[in-house]
Amino acid sequence: MAKLCSRMWTAFFILFQLSAVTYGSEENQDDAVQYGKDCASLIADAPPFNCLAGEIVRVTVDGKEPAEYSPNMNCDNPAYLPYPKAAHGQCVPYSRVQTLRDDDIQILGLCRRMFIRPKDDPHFDSIEIIMHNKKTGSTCFMISKNFGANPQGDDGRRVPPPSEESPPKGQLAARDLWATPQQVADHGCIYCHDSDPWMYTPWIAQTSQLPSDPFGYHSVDVGGPFRAWPKPMSINTRGNTCTGCHRIGSLNTCGSQKIPTFGDQPPKMTQALTWMPPGSSEGAEEWAAIYKQSVDDLSRCCGDHQSPGCRVEPIDSKSSWTDRLKVINPHHSGR
Ligand code: HEC
Ligand code: HEC
Repeated sequence: MAKLCSRMWTAFFILFQLSAVTYGSEENQDDAVQYGKDCASLIADAPPFNCLAGEIVRVTVDGKEPAEYSPNMNCDNPAYLPYPKAAHGQCVPYSRVQTLRDDDIQILGLCRRMFIRPKDDPHFDSIEIIMHNKKTGSTCFMISKNFGANPQGDDGRRVPPPSEESPPKGQLAARDLWATPQQVADHGCIYCHDSDPWMYTPWIAQTSQLPSDPFGYHSVDVGGPFRAWPKPMSINTRGNTCTGCHRIGSLNTCGSQKIPTFGDQPPKMTQALTWMPPGSSEGAEEWAAIYKQSVDDLSRCCGDHQSPGCRVEPIDSKSSWTDRLKVINPHHSGR
């Protein structure tokens, strides 16, 4: 046993050395396309897509689309992700979302509108991809450099695959659209997308586009600046009524967090209590009888993982060491 352990440690040590060497040069480049390629080898190549082909996320007032939209208006189901103050608020219409793949590989493209424009205008204010490998748990996050700062937006008629070296003539290049890995890391995606890859809110749930993998492995194992991200854990307690349908993640889902780019964010779990579980028909008293203790237990365990009765478990795959070997193996990643 002791012998095995020391051999294991030697192996780990070599792995760390190797990964330091491989990623060291990558980090200097901080290149969006290299990141796209690393994600493609862990997960899959994303296809090019047209934002306008996506399903519109409806923005309604009292159940109907208003005759006119105005900046900072109220609506039935606002987008939850905070937008920059200079933009037009959470009720801007005509964001578009599309499932690009939903098998062992899940890929989704989201084109957010943060400024009011005509329905079929091709410009969008934040273009985002999440890609996820259900077998290994690998998850990658991509976002456009522009996040509502430039009111012109980006032309979304051909969103280039993040791994594409050069676009067809006259089309937008991946390096011009996509944020570099460091810039993506600075957005802190994992803090919110911590229970599983997919965030569900009443806004996006109006579409039929969201993949789901509620109990699958979930880890950002692409290396580079993402090594600085905390690893989300599953927070649970015995007989908990909230965790029967999905996990509760240990970062912003269960507790408030200071998130890069977005600042202090309240727990998603308590934000969600007005609509969780979906379609629940209990009265307030009955709801409290079923769920209140469970929510309190999760909050307590979130704040202190060592607190009695708390089950805090990793959600990355057990095979992550072999996956990491594949990434740093130059033959496999084509480097
Ligand atoms: C502050 C919390 C937060 C952060 C940080 C965050 N997101 Fe999200 N994201 C959300 C929420 C909430 C939704 C659901 C849609 C909505 O209501 O805005 C969402 C939805 C999405 C979707 C649509 C699919 C889905 O899961 O619903 C994509 C794609 C996405 N985010 C990508 C990203 C990327 C890429 C980053 C990092 C560059 C990121 N997100 C960072 C909160 C966050
Ligand atoms: C009957 C099943 C069910 C129960 C019980 C349930 N949820 Fe959910 N919950 C869902 C579904 C379905 C979704 C959205 C789809 C998905 O994530 O696949 C969801 C989404 C969420 C989200 C959205 C954020 C994210 O990461 O996607 C939060 C937060 C949440 N639930 C919290 C809770 C809390 C807190 C409780 C206990 C009060 C609870 N849920 C109980 C079914 C349930």
